[in-house]
Amino acid sequence: MASITMQNLVKKYDDGFPAVNDVSIDVADGEFLILVGPSGCGKSTLLRMVVGLEDITSGDLLIDGERVNDKAPRDRNLSMVFQNYALYPHLTVYENIAFPLRLSKGQFSKDEIDRKVRAASETLDLDEHLERKPANLSGGQRQRVAMGRAIVRDADAFLFDEPLSNLDAKLRGQMRTEIAQLQRRMGITSIYVTHDQTEAMTLGDRVAVLKKGVLQQIASPRELYEQPANLFVAGFIGAPSMNFLPARIEGNVFKTPIGDIEVPERVQQKVSGKNDIVLLGLRPEHFEDSKFVDEAKVPHGTTFEAEFTHTEWLGNQQYGYIQFEQDQAVKHKLDELAKDLDADEMPSQVVVSLDASSRIRGGTAANIWLDAAACTCSIPRPVKTSPATRRPVRS
Ligand SMILES: Nc1ncnc2c1ncn2[C@@H]1O[C@H](COP(=O)(O)OP(=O)(O)OP(=O)(O)O)[C@@H](O)[C@H]1O
Ligand SMILES: [Mg+2]
Repeated sequence: MASITMQNLVKKYDDGFPAVNDVSIDVADGEFLILVGPSGCGKSTLLRMVVGLEDITSGDLLIDGERVNDKAPRDRNLSMVFQNYALYPHLTVYENIAFPLRLSKGQFSKDEIDRKVRAASETLDLDEHLERKPANLSGGQRQRVAMGRAIVRDADAFLFDEPLSNLDAKLRGQMRTEIAQLQRRMGITSIYVTHDQTEAMTLGDRVAVLKKGVLQQIASPRELYEQPANLFVAGFIGAPSMNFLPARIEGNVFKTPIGDIEVPERVQQKVSGKNDIVLLGLRPEHFEDSKFVDEAKVPHGTTFEAEFTHTEWLGNQQYGYIQFEQDQAVKHKLDELAKDLDADEMPSQVVVSLDASSRIRGGTAANIWLDAAACTCSIPRPVKTSPATRRPVRS
């Protein structure tokens, strides 16, 4: 086992574009780190730099304190599990798992190989499939074979690049639990790249958020969610995403396009005397159908009427959608934010979470309640991170 230290890592591909731009992350021995970010933000590149499949343009990579920039992948003793499993179709499950051991010729006796393969197969519940070929296995079983191959190597760390993205939702859930348990049981340092919000929030000790090759924040899932470092992180973490609403301050009221929201006491000082436009960041779960709010809680929030376009009932939860007109006066501010969030434009709708038994339906106006404590992120200002610009390609 080992710690992995990334110091100011930069990766520039041939076109000069910094796919990874000055990233420094310390992964402690035994830690489970998750890497997230939009497509193309450099997650795979960073992982491949760690494992040695990609040269490091500048910066240092240390494994257990030792600089390994120039070491070949096989000398770094890390195990990578890919999205497409990379199994050998003509080999049995047993031989697929044994493969990395046979590759290091002479290092392991036949008995040792057998012992290691069987131990891995027991851990991964693959005993009854050892003689089968990958083509005859389910996606989840194939994924476990790929894990087995990583385990037998006694690697110092596991690196996962979206290992579950080919699986259906149910299997994903199962494998997620298995990976979490396995990692905890083995206590092996792991870096895990994912697009999946649930994986990001549940699997790891800490989550690192990347945007255009630049590290935005690295923190526990709870901290990312509750204290995002900037608007990008606020908008990226959480599903459905945080709503961003422009608001004008008039006395003690935020005039928003979906209704008047009383300025919570906690932020009164911050906004008093300002008649500027601010951006409210409000998470869906901070709203509720006012009929379902405890009487004791009512004074801790603000209730206002809004027009719903439609609702989505998911059995155990429900979401309501409120459309609004974008305020032209703040358009430039929202466009800037949209760019920051990698979106074409800011959606002009608010998603609110409603009790599953709420009777609010599309096409009607209803009273909704907003938790005042929700304003932790109430007036985020766009944070300028140096945008990585691609050099024009010369023809
Ligand atoms: N071999 C390459 N040559 C040139 N540019 C590359 C190469 N590989 C990746 N890139 C660029 O580097 C950036 C980061 O790519 P990377 O594959 O690391 O993103 P990612 O975060 O893993 O995305 P995804 O979530 O889609 O897998 C992208 O802009 C991509 O186009
Ligand atoms: Mg990738």
